[in-house]
Amino acid sequence: MGKTLAVITGASSGLGVVFARKLAADHDLLLIARRKDRLDAVAAELTARYGCAAEVVAADLTDAKDLSAVADRIAAEQKLGLLVNNAGFGARGLFWESDYAVQEQMHQLHVMAMLRLSHAALGNMVTQNAGGIVNVASVAAFVQREGAVSYGATKRWVVSFTEGLYLELKSLGSAVRVQALCPGFTYTEFHATLGVDRQNVAPRSLWLQPDFVVDE
Ligand SMILES: NC(=O)c1ccc[n+]([C@@H]2O[C@H](COP(=O)([O-])OP(=O)(O)OC[C@H]3O[C@@H](n4cnc5c(N)ncnc54)[C@H](OP(=O)(O)O)[C@@H]3O)[C@@H](O)[C@H]2O)c1
Repeated sequence: MGKTLAVITGASSGLGVVFARKLAADHDLLLIARRKDRLDAVAAELTARYGCAAEVVAADLTDAKDLSAVADRIAAEQKLGLLVNNAGFGARGLFWESDYAVQEQMHQLHVMAMLRLSHAALGNMVTQNAGGIVNVASVAAFVQREGAVSYGATKRWVVSFTEGLYLELKSLGSAVRVQALCPGFTYTEFHATLGVDRQNVAPRSLWLQPDFVVDE
């Protein structure tokens, strides 16, 4: 039997790239994010190093059309092995005075995109009784705080959603596995994109290497 396919969202930087690097040895890859040049570079690196097939899809998962196209691709995939719902971002500012569009975008990405892609993947995986989903949440799922209300709320949804899927799959006796991954502060582009200095976020001793997080 040939390699199964690992689908990774947010594969253009940070944890997504590390997932791709670690999965490339024994999977073919479908890499998804908005920045196609970054995805192309990751795909070129990994096909050269591991001889895997690596397909790139430039998609904004907050865009209904892009999300539908990715979901359809996942639902129809013959050799789907793993879905890593990893794409995400942070936002700053008190909820009531922040840009509503950004708050909504975060819910679209962390909640609706994960909902849609998980549904597409599970319809495929449960029928085949094989495969798995990693939903990237955060320790923020367990601690609500001012200035990150939607982040904490959406990540808590990720954990609850994944726990529910786990119970359903268990009740079916399914071999399909699901995991909510809850990293702490991790060295990626997340905080630069957010526009905050890591040094002001948490002491150095609390920061994790992305390799460690993905191995877990
Ligand atoms: N770093 C941390 O401290 C930390 C801690 C806990 C949890 N997390 C979670 O870990 C996950 C990965 O983040 P990271 O730390 O690796 O940050 P990162 O380096 O900023 O990566 C975020 C990824 O998400 C993609 N993305 C963002 N918006 C998107 C959209 N609308 N459509 C498609 N892709 C989109 C980005 O790609 P494009 O910009 O190319 O679209 C990028 O590949 C996120 O869910 C984050 O919440 C991070």
